[in-house]
Amino acid sequence: LARYAVIGNPIAHSRSPQIHAMFAEQTGKPLRYDRLLAPVDGFADAVAAFVAEGGLGLNVTVPFKLDAYALAAGRLSSRARLAGAVNTLSWRDGAWHGCNTDGVGLVSDLLRLGLRLAGASVLLVGAGGAARGVLQPLAEAGCARIHIVNRTASKAEELAASWRDSGVSPQTPVTGGSLADAALAGGWNLVINATASGLQNAAPDLPPGLYAPGAAAYDMMYGAQPTAFMQQAQADGAALAADGLGMLVGQAAESFYIWHGVRPDPAPVLAALREALK
Ligand code: ATR
Repeated sequence: LARYAVIGNPIAHSRSPQIHAMFAEQTGKPLRYDRLLAPVDGFADAVAAFVAEGGLGLNVTVPFKLDAYALAAGRLSSRARLAGAVNTLSWRDGAWHGCNTDGVGLVSDLLRLGLRLAGASVLLVGAGGAARGVLQPLAEAGCARIHIVNRTASKAEELAASWRDSGVSPQTPVTGGSLADAALAGGWNLVINATASGLQNAAPDLPPGLYAPGAAAYDMMYGAQPTAFMQQAQADGAALAADGLGMLVGQAAESFYIWHGVRPDPAPVLAALREALK
């Protein structure tokens, strides 16, 4: 059986094996997909052992996306290079090739929700790896502008500047500032939470008055209950608030496509995961 796995630390909570098993069943592709727990300083060894056992592809999660980027240096997709991180490794011609499907997963989920990205003013909250990873697909989806805000404003400004230096999608201006700045220009059509604040069950400290009529809020985190960010958004008048379960399924679908050349249908898988969260 063709072998795949998700590698991380911790990894026990990962839903990727379930998702890929459902995609495999749907598309009739026989495969085995495991969880790999690697020591924090043992990524390269764990990956080498996986190849020795016949491994063909890896999804990479916290804290190894930068290690995976280094491992695939010279064999990175443009998505991976722009994201500065790799979440999908493919073993081809005796080497690992790196891609990043997180941003594509987000955009596909936003479209599934019926959001119009073309011409949208987007407020991106957070300036870490999760935020950086979605800039290219958002810009390429035709957003009118993207403003990045962060608790540490300098990081948002640096991320915006480094994005502008990349020269990609110059038709979408990308700027950076502080969380409080977000108020200076209300009227956002889409506010995306890419911070880790949800891990403490908290929402980022955003000012009120952000949402344009009909605007949406999207949290990259997910849970059984609406997240703190979703609750904040609804209280602030967002017309729609969604969590990131669909992004998780979307990034998995894109990885599946890279590995197997077939596009699975994310809808039934998302429905099954949502049911299992209850
Ligand atoms: P990731 O790769 O998941 O993006 P990261 O690089 O550690 O992780 O970035 C975490 C992001 O969440 C940062 O933007 C961080 O803000 P700072 O740069 O100011 O640290 C943000 N973050 C974490 N906890 C937060 C909180 N309670 N409120 C607001 N932002 C928070």
